[in-house]
Amino acid sequence: MTTRGDHEALTVEQQLAILQQKLVQAQRLTALGELVSTTTHEFNNVLMTILNYAKMGLRHKDEATRDKAFQKVLAAAERASKITNSVLGMARNRSESFEPTDLAKLIDESLVLLERELRKYRISVETHFAPVPAACAVGNQIQQVVLNLLINARQAMPDGGRLIIRLEQSADGDTVDLTIRDTGCGIPADKLPRIFDPFYSTKQGPDASGKGGTGLGLSACRHIIESHRGRVRVESTVGVGTAFTIRLPVYHAPPVVVPNVAASQAHCVNRA
Ligand SMILES: Nc1ncnc2c1ncn2[C@@H]1O[C@H](COP(=O)(O)OP(=O)(O)OP(=O)(O)O)[C@@H](O)[C@H]1O
Ligand SMILES: [Mg+2]
Repeated sequence: MTTRGDHEALTVEQQLAILQQKLVQAQRLTALGELVSTTTHEFNNVLMTILNYAKMGLRHKDEATRDKAFQKVLAAAERASKITNSVLGMARNRSESFEPTDLAKLIDESLVLLERELRKYRISVETHFAPVPAACAVGNQIQQVVLNLLINARQAMPDGGRLIIRLEQSADGDTVDLTIRDTGCGIPADKLPRIFDPFYSTKQGPDASGKGGTGLGLSACRHIIESHRGRVRVESTVGVGTAFTIRLPVYHAPPVVVPNVAASQAHCVNRA
């Protein structure tokens, strides 16, 4: 339990750091809640497909119809398993510590979670993934960033558009760079400096899929990327679209320590 005295003992910077941490957690729960409702709907649709084709297979005794029914059931069941794997990946499978992280896999899983929504708004997705090394990241947090950016991009294109996702290693080899580009409404130059501020939003509350409007998405993204010692950059042109680029450090395995070397290293550390 915290007491008033405890708070007084904390510096303003410490209190701010605690609040920022809580903000990221709260935003994550909101994002998770929104996704649970989207994916539950989608899962239910897949179950309906399975039920209907299973009934069709039972009703029709001819081999051709039964084959078709089985194929449909199989395809739907595979999709259902992709959905549950993606939700599980987001909800609990990844650790909360910095680990070698496969960003391409993480993006693919995020796209599965949003596939239905993107289809509904007639948004096509192009992915250009160069072979990249693992990033040094907390998988859960980076997925939160990716989902926020994808949802913002979707919301910027209410009448459809293109989502172009690029993954490549930086020229100097130090970072893995992810760019999420949309062909949406764009952001006016005078608004651009404010978009990362907490509670800054131009949306009139949640949209038809229950997302958006709090103004916490990008603020949480910035906090997460900064805690990864990464960078986030945005370019936007009104009427043309917006591109967010996040740069994350490449994961470097800790050096293998030979006992003698360890001793000399320890010596170096003591001397420093
Ligand atoms: N891809 C984009 N295209 C156009 N405008 C954008 C884009 N991404 C962000 N914005 C602008 O930045 C604002 C802040 O975004 P942010 O994600 O922080 O909040 P939000 O989407 O409004 O609400 P939520 O907290 O639910 O994410 C948005 O309201 C919008 O005006
Ligand atoms: Mg948002």
